[in-house]
Amino acid sequence: MTSRKTSLAAAVALTAAATTLLVPTAAQAGPSTDLSADPVVIGHRGASGYRPEHTIAAYELAIRQGADYIEPDLVSTRDGVLVARHENEISGTTDVADHPEFADRRTTKTIDDRPVTGWFTEDFTYKELRTLRAVERLPGVRPDNTAYDGDFRVPTLDEVLKLARREGVGVYPETKHPTYFDSIGLSLEEPLVAALEKRRMDDADDEVVIQSFEVSNLRDLDAMVDVDLAQLVDGAGGPFDLPGTTYASMVTAAGLRTIATYADGLGAAKNWVLPRDASGATGAPSAVVDDAHAAGLVVHVWTLRRENQFMATNFRVGTDPNAPGDMYAESLAFLDAGVDGLFSDNPDIAAQALADWLADQD
Ligand code: G3P
Ligand code: CA
Repeated sequence: MTSRKTSLAAAVALTAAATTLLVPTAAQAGPSTDLSADPVVIGHRGASGYRPEHTIAAYELAIRQGADYIEPDLVSTRDGVLVARHENEISGTTDVADHPEFADRRTTKTIDDRPVTGWFTEDFTYKELRTLRAVERLPGVRPDNTAYDGDFRVPTLDEVLKLARREGVGVYPETKHPTYFDSIGLSLEEPLVAALEKRRMDDADDEVVIQSFEVSNLRDLDAMVDVDLAQLVDGAGGPFDLPGTTYASMVTAAGLRTIATYADGLGAAKNWVLPRDASGATGAPSAVVDDAHAAGLVVHVWTLRRENQFMATNFRVGTDPNAPGDMYAESLAFLDAGVDGLFSDNPDIAAQALADWLADQD
């Protein structure tokens, strides 16, 4: 970790000084998982714009579309198996409600101080969870994806690692609700590190970045494993495990220097990099990218999605919130702002924009 951080800091300084001199090589133009190299595309929950999220089919499509990394969000089953779901409550992303044998497991819990009602992965063994099938989380926004409802199982982290290893792409796992899972005796960090070790993907040189909205577990992981770490910062609020700390304070120059003591990257909500004006349009970049680079952190922004409703007004096309806007232009705007990576539900568009942007750096 330490040696990579040193090389990253040097590379960031070099890049800042000599951006206009960079000429992309064939190797640079292909998938890259070196945080100090060209910007990367991260298939957010797979190619979740085209397939139900967090399925092997979504990850495979992301890889075919040019993603450098695939991103599994991680939660635990009752028997400690890490699986890819955005939330531990799975009624919106699986057909669990159609399984009468599990009807009595519907319940209400407090997750990160919020009441949540539904079915929870930690109440199912992995064997039970395997009987469920994934469904599209946003059927009103992405009706075409519902054609795949019922086709795919909930994948384990190990299955995602195996796929990434086989296809030669990186993996960007996110621990979801780590303090909550600690509180119920299902800590996420140990099985995550064990899974990486099992697949021999636990070294600093491996194409793995672990991300979290919380801080304490990243600090723990910094001592547990040598892979890269990224601190996620949401557009509002603060980390659940640090009451009183805001994400706004974490993206100041001083806050970013603190993040750099335990992490290698910043996973920033888009608005931190390109703030929107009163009309909802993006304007000049904030200081976040420059300040992060000065601290030795790469910056990966989330989430680029092609539908109008998810983008600033200046990239929208027409008035239908579910119609495609100009995500290609949005991608270029973030690359021009100096980011090092794009999390996207539509890796094909992001990858095309990145290839064209790199070509323009000649
Ligand atoms: O990990 C980057 C981004 O995925 C964070 O937001 O809610 O999509 O996991 P979320
Ligand atoms: Ca995520």
